[in-house]
Amino acid sequence: MNRSLSAKKRANLLIAAMTLDDKIAMLHGVTAPKKKPANAYDFAPPPVGYVGYVPPNLRLGIPALTLADGRAGVGNKAKDVTLLPAPIAAASSWDPALLHEFGRVLGEEEWGKGTNVALSPSIDVVRVPEWGRTFESYGEDPYFNGVMAAAEIQGIQSQGPIANANMYLTMNQESDRFHEDSVVDERTLQEIYLPPFAAAVRDGRVGTLMCAYVKTNGVYSCENAQILEDFLRKELGFQGWVMSDWGATHSTIDAANNGLDQQMPDDSYFGAALKAAVLANRVSQAKIDEHVRHILVTMFRFGLFDKAPGGNWMSNVRSPQHDEFSRHVAEQGTILLKNAGGLLPLQQGTSIAVIGEAGKNQPKAEGGGSSGVVPPYVVSPWEGIGKRAGSGGAVSYDDGGDPARAAQAASNAHTAIVVVHTDETEGSDRPNLQLPGNQDQLIEAVAKVNRRTLVVLDTGGPVLMPWADRVAGIVEAWYPGQEDGNALAAVLFGDVNPSARLPLTFPRTAAAIPTSRKVQWPGVSGHSMYSERLNVGYRWYDATGTKPLFPFGFGLSYTKFQLSHLSIKRDRFSAEELSNGATASMTISVTNTGARDGAEVVQLYVAHPAVNGEPPHQLGSFGKVWLRRGETKPVNLSVDGRAFSIYDPAGHQWTIEPGAYGILVGTSSRDLPLKATITIQK
Ligand code: NOJ
Repeated sequence: MNRSLSAKKRANLLIAAMTLDDKIAMLHGVTAPKKKPANAYDFAPPPVGYVGYVPPNLRLGIPALTLADGRAGVGNKAKDVTLLPAPIAAASSWDPALLHEFGRVLGEEEWGKGTNVALSPSIDVVRVPEWGRTFESYGEDPYFNGVMAAAEIQGIQSQGPIANANMYLTMNQESDRFHEDSVVDERTLQEIYLPPFAAAVRDGRVGTLMCAYVKTNGVYSCENAQILEDFLRKELGFQGWVMSDWGATHSTIDAANNGLDQQMPDDSYFGAALKAAVLANRVSQAKIDEHVRHILVTMFRFGLFDKAPGGNWMSNVRSPQHDEFSRHVAEQGTILLKNAGGLLPLQQGTSIAVIGEAGKNQPKAEGGGSSGVVPPYVVSPWEGIGKRAGSGGAVSYDDGGDPARAAQAASNAHTAIVVVHTDETEGSDRPNLQLPGNQDQLIEAVAKVNRRTLVVLDTGGPVLMPWADRVAGIVEAWYPGQEDGNALAAVLFGDVNPSARLPLTFPRTAAAIPTSRKVQWPGVSGHSMYSERLNVGYRWYDATGTKPLFPFGFGLSYTKFQLSHLSIKRDRFSAEELSNGATASMTISVTNTGARDGAEVVQLYVAHPAVNGEPPHQLGSFGKVWLRRGETKPVNLSVDGRAFSIYDPAGHQWTIEPGAYGILVGTSSRDLPLKATITIQK
C-alpha cells in the first residue's frame, strides 16, 4: 500500500505474499451456478450485475474486479444510464476529440456504476460489410481505427476504469463465430488487422485486451502464441493483461503457456484445472506469477488499490449533460449522402410525411448483443421532426407496412421522409446487404409519388440502394442512440450543418464487395480465406477499379469547400530517418466557398511505388477543420514512417523501401485532387 513505490514493485511485493490459491483466484472470473445451461456459452451472470467478476481477496486487501460491457453506454441491463450512438456513428465524425469525449462520458458512467474494467472499445477492422457487429466498430481502415481507438481509450481511462480493446484478433464475422478459422497471411495481419490494436497499446495505453472467439491460422485466439506472445508482448510491448472473451478459452495448459492471463467469465479451465497443471509441472509457477503480475501491475497503475469504487450497479449515472452529449454525437455522426434539388435543409411550416417502422413505432436507436443498453428514453424521428417543424407544419405518420397506403400519405405531403433500418446484432451476420422486408419497395412506392423523398438510414453498416437515383435525398443516421429524432431534426432543418464522412465503403451491387466469394465469407468447412489480402474496404475498390456507390471518406455538407495549395515542408527523406521517427509535414489551404458555416475533413492518402505491392493508396492522415462562410484556414497534416512502411514476412519486420511516394489529398478516397511526391532514399 506504499504509494511511493512503482506499480511493478507493489505488484511484486504482493505476489510474494500470495499462495498459489490466491494467485489462481485472480486468473478467472466467477459466475453463479446455473442448473441447465443451454450451451457452452450460456453463463449465469455473476452475483452483482457485472458481466464479469473476480471476487476481492480480503486477506490481502486485493479489490474485486468488476467488468461491464458498453460500446454505446453501460451494458448488461444496467438501469439509469445514457444510450449513446453506436461507435460507427461517433467514428463518422472523423473527429478524434469527439471520440475522446465519447470515451470520457462512457468511462464516467461505467466508473459511476462501480465498474473498474470497461469492456470497450471494439476496434477490429470491418472486413465483411455484412458483419453483424460492424456498428460496434469504427470502420474499414486500420489507421483510422487506430486513431479512434486510442482517443476513446484515453477518454475511458481518464475517468477511472481500465479500458479493454476487443476483440483480438481477426474477429471479422459472426457466422460460425465460436470456431471460425481466419486464414490470413502474416503481412496482411501486420498491415491490416494489427494496427488498431498496436495503436490501442502504444497510443491509448490500454490496460486490457480481450482475445477473440475465432481462430487465426488454425489456432484459437486465446491460446495463440503468435498473436498473444510474439505480436502483443514482444513487438508491441503490452504490459497489461489479456482476458478471454466469454467462452473463448479452450484449454488450460496451452492457454496458460501461450499468453492468456485470465479466463472469463468462469473457471472451467483456469480454476482447479490450472492448479492441477501447476502441481503437475505442466504450467510453471513463474508463468502463473507472470499472469498475476500483468493483472496486478495494471490494477496498481490505475489506482484500484488506492481509491474507492465510484458507485455501484444501482447508481444513477445519467445527467442532462450526457443526454445533450448523446445528441451531439448523433448530430456529428449523421452523414448527408445525397441532397438533390435543394431538398435539404427543410423549411419550417411545410407538411411532412414520416414513413416506416423506425420512424415512430420502433425507433432503431441501437444494435443488438452484448453491447445493448437499456435506454432511459428514445426520441423517435417523428417526434423530433414534429417538434422542430413547429406549429405551422403538419407531420403525419405511416408505419409503411402497406407501401400503397404509405404512398398515398406521401403524395399529400410536401416532403416524404422514409426511415428504414436493419436489425444488426452480435451473434449473426446479415445474409446480404439488402434492406430487410419490404423496405426497398416502400421507398420505390413513395419516391414514385413524391419528388421530394428523403431516405433516412438507421443501419449499422452499408446497405444496397437500388433506388438511389430515384430519391432526392439520402441520410445515414446509423444507430443514433436515445436522441435519435432530435439529432435527425437538427440536421434536416439545418440547425446543424452535417460534417460526418463515411468510415467504410457503400457498394453498388452485392457482387461488388471485396469478400463476395463464399470461401472468403462466411467460409467453407470452417475456414474463411482472407484471399483479398491487403485489399480490404476501399483498397479493393481502388485495386480492381470498381466504382462504389458512396466511397470511403465521402459525405456532403450544406456549404461547399475548396482545397488548394498543398505544400510539403520537405520532400526528400532517408529511409533511416523515417524509421527513427522523422515525419513529413504538409499544409493545405481550405476555403468555405458556400453560404453557411461548416466543417470539412481533409484526407491524405499515401500511394506506394508499385514495386512495394501495396493497394493503390491508403489513408495516412486526416484533419477536420471548422470554417465560417467565406473563411480560409490552413490545415497541417503529417505522416510518419509507418505510412511508408511495408511488412516483410520473410524477415518478420517492417521496412521502408526507397522510391517515389505519392501524396494525395482531398475529401474522399475517390476525390483526391491535390498531389505531390515524397522521395525516399536508402
Ligand atoms: C461477448 C462479446 O464478444 C464481447 O464483446 C463482450 O465483451 C463479452 N461477450 C461480454 O459480454
